[in-house]
Amino acid sequence: MRKKITVVGAGMVGGTTAQRLAEKNYADVVLVDIVEGLPQGKALDLLESGPILGYDTHLIGTNGYEETANSDIAILTSGVARKPGMSRDDLLYTNMDIVRGVTQEIARRSPNCILIVVSNPLDAMTQLAYEVSRFPKQRVIGMAGALDSARFGTFIARELDVSVEDVNAFVLGGHGDTMVPLSRYSTVAGIPITELLPAERVRAIEQRARDGGAEIVSLLKTGSAYYAPSAAIVQMVDAIVSDKKKILPCAVMLEGEYGIKGLFVGVPVKLGAGGVEAIFEIQLTADEHASLQRSAAAVAELVEKMKTRTT
Ligand code: LAC
Repeated sequence: MRKKITVVGAGMVGGTTAQRLAEKNYADVVLVDIVEGLPQGKALDLLESGPILGYDTHLIGTNGYEETANSDIAILTSGVARKPGMSRDDLLYTNMDIVRGVTQEIARRSPNCILIVVSNPLDAMTQLAYEVSRFPKQRVIGMAGALDSARFGTFIARELDVSVEDVNAFVLGGHGDTMVPLSRYSTVAGIPITELLPAERVRAIEQRARDGGAEIVSLLKTGSAYYAPSAAIVQMVDAIVSDKKKILPCAVMLEGEYGIKGLFVGVPVKLGAGGVEAIFEIQLTADEHASLQRSAAAVAELVEKMKTRTT
């Protein structure tokens, strides 16, 4: 039987994710949104693209959750997006109510699924989905590192005028202003970029990666990025569906790794059929370690804010 993937939120990220998944042709897709007609319209439009593009993906759009039952993977994209000048953290209270409700609906009907959380502020929303779903930590994963690393990798490839295929970029930490691009571990054909670029260019590219989401928001003005985010989601789904054992930075529950406990923060993990199959602890310099701790502290602050709201 084909796998079943639910995408919650039929906005630009959810709709584009459904499109990319449909074109992969390896799973059926259920697209959910509260807006009447929106998920139905996008799902039908995508279904009707099948004969042209040659995929047999079955897509359903719905305003409810019945059709999501027994999904193998559920992707949470719902919530409001940033406007220019806003930080991802400004979305906390609005999106936590949405993510809590969606997680309850999904977890009840698909108790064995893998949850991929995309709503912002990403790390805090992933932590919330973990707590609400009560799923094992291996099955609740935040999508951020794959996107942030893709942005960092893009800028590295442009700066050195080399193929993106030769670039392996790594960004750790929370998906926020304190994220930690790890240049020492970011390579072109295996050569660390710190060997290929002057320090000030490395710093400039790191900063552009940190500001990558905001750069798109300031250009689009009415929303945030969706092409690269949906590509990053599908990269994670590929790893899970094909049991690739791919190493990608993802927001996962840390229980002592990197000296961080009880918090979702982006670190390199092995993604396969079981979800997070291993967490890698790499050697960090004192500066890198301090940056990761600062990033984790920013996530912890949001998690604390959520607690004061709920109690
Ligand atoms: C971004 C949003 C999706 O980084 O967080 O573009």
